[in-house]
Amino acid sequence: MKILAIVGSLRTDSYNRQLALLAKEAVGGRADFELLEYADIPYMNEDIEFPAPEAVARVREAVKSADGVWFFTPEYNHFFPGVLKNLIDWLSRPVGDAERQVLFGKPAAISGVSSGMGGTVCAQDHLVTLLSLLNMRVMNVPRLTIPNAGQQLDGDGKLALTSSKKYLERQADAFIRFLGD
Ligand code: FNR
Repeated sequence: MKILAIVGSLRTDSYNRQLALLAKEAVGGRADFELLEYADIPYMNEDIEFPAPEAVARVREAVKSADGVWFFTPEYNHFFPGVLKNLIDWLSRPVGDAERQVLFGKPAAISGVSSGMGGTVCAQDHLVTLLSLLNMRVMNVPRLTIPNAGQQLDGDGKLALTSSKKYLERQADAFIRFLGD
């Protein structure tokens, strides 16, 4: 089984990227877990849509070959970031005449960590709306929202998830089951 992790932040030390790496640990040997790198895809522009730019073809293939997609999103102004919307806009377009867009019917899990009090709840709600429009099979229970990232760091400033780790582990267990349904 293969899980593709999509992180909605391009920041090198992103808490959400760190959360994805902790999720990989929580999944352990039960599935392959790959982080999608997509900083090189261009802005969606229908002038350059066909043939698909190489970076876009690459991310589509990564999604196609995954059994499920696990999103890790920051919250920017109560929304998920524009880089993630841009990626999903590319993924949402049909690959060819006979093929559906690559997100159609794929299982999806959603987690997020923010430095604010909301823990990405608003961003996740907007993301669910978009993923549902694209007919992904969203696992709504459990979702994982982690507020106040600054309070869960180790001495080196890395995300330690002191109080939230068990919820991440529960979500990993649930997503593995969801993928098997
Ligand atoms: C933020 N941040 C933020 N936090 C929050 O809880 N609610 C919000 O609406 C916002 N809005 C917001 C807008 C913009 C433009 C930025 C850059 C940041 C703070 C955010 O939670 C924090 O920067 C996280 O560390 C971003 O996630 P990564 O990059 O660490 O994964």
